[in-house]
Amino acid sequence: MATTGQVIKCKAAVAWEPGKTLSIEDVEVAPPKVHEVRIKIVATGVCHTDWEYLYETGKGMKFRPFPLVLGHEAAGVVESIGPEVTKFSPGDKVIPLFLPQCENCERCQSPKTNLCRRNWSNTQLGVLADGTSRISCKGQHVYQFLGVSSFSQYTVVPDTSLAKIRSDAPLNKVCLLGCGVSTGYGAAINTGKVEKDSLCAVFGLGAVGLAAIMGCKAAEAKRIIGVDINPDKFEKAKVFGATECVNPKDHSKPIQEVLVDMTEGGVDFALECVGSPPVMSAALESTTDAWGVCVIAGWTETEVMNVMVEKILMGRTLKGTYFGGWKSVQDVPKLVDSYMDRKLKLDEFITHNLSLDQINVAFELLKSGKSIRTVISLWQEKTKPGVATF
Ligand code: APR
Ligand code: ZN
Repeated sequence: MATTGQVIKCKAAVAWEPGKTLSIEDVEVAPPKVHEVRIKIVATGVCHTDWEYLYETGKGMKFRPFPLVLGHEAAGVVESIGPEVTKFSPGDKVIPLFLPQCENCERCQSPKTNLCRRNWSNTQLGVLADGTSRISCKGQHVYQFLGVSSFSQYTVVPDTSLAKIRSDAPLNKVCLLGCGVSTGYGAAINTGKVEKDSLCAVFGLGAVGLAAIMGCKAAEAKRIIGVDINPDKFEKAKVFGATECVNPKDHSKPIQEVLVDMTEGGVDFALECVGSPPVMSAALESTTDAWGVCVIAGWTETEVMNVMVEKILMGRTLKGTYFGGWKSVQDVPKLVDSYMDRKLKLDEFITHNLSLDQINVAFELLKSGKSIRTVISLWQEKTKPGVATF
């Protein structure tokens, strides 16, 4: 390609400081270094975590350095490769990964975890393996959110943080497999190991919760109870497989007691997809004694949840999931196959399609509870905010 080895000038949404809206800027994206790949981002989802890092830094979130390009749920095409990259070629369709899979470390070789630690601390700091970012703006380095930064038309990622996917996959749909959908679906299937004919409760019916419902349904759970304080989410939850929905605000008793009554003793599996410690405690307490399993998929970093010790002593298990337990490089292409085989829904998550310069509108839609997922097309001209058809 003509751009190989050159600095690329393109558009990106830059977060200059916490709590301020993003601004569309001309940025420079340096060529990939050793074991790095430069990708053209075609589409990116807007995830709750992007919003949280911008608006909640210091409030439940660890401090991340700014300026920063957010975005971590994306799909694109390889533009060029750095030295020693063997698994990718220009033109490959790819999904960048905030969780690597290096295939060499002890954790990658263990079937017990997907938590590869390759480049972990650098990724958390917003830089690549050499301690620097490949993105700059107005002569200043701009940090890469979780090592990805998909709110940019081009970005550079390590070759261990990239999944090659089939060439017929629609990038404006499979981008959702880069975070939320994989997290919720895997929380049910891999981490919770939801069983046939079981009773399940899913707390929070955003993209992560809807995907958890889809996982419970795939596991052939008997009852799947959706829990949300926003009843507008119930209709869609049923599309994904919820058998019933409850709104904690409709009850004077705590929601865990309502669920224990509804199920005559508690659910077998509870999945927390909100990211709120009180909801996490409620989820644990809604499970049955003897074998109840509570999986935390919602995100918070510095907060603490209350655990009534007796609940654990009576045989319950509390688990957390990161990226749904998927080994990222090897499993994301398989999730793409599941979507292409119509075994996994993606289109139904997408409520809005917008262009990059409407990114702040996407955040407003997310915060007001009006969207499940907005997909941003990085190369599209401005569109009227609209509801996607599916
Ligand atoms: N009880 C039940 N549901 C709640 C509560 C509550 N107390 N508070 C909020 N909710 C619901 C919201 O109404 C919303 O429908 O939780 C849902 C959260 O959905 P989104 O904001 O769309 O978030 P999502 O993208 O699904 O992510 C959920 O997982 O990965 C993490 O960072 C992410 O913590 C976030 C969580
Ligand atoms: Zn590894």
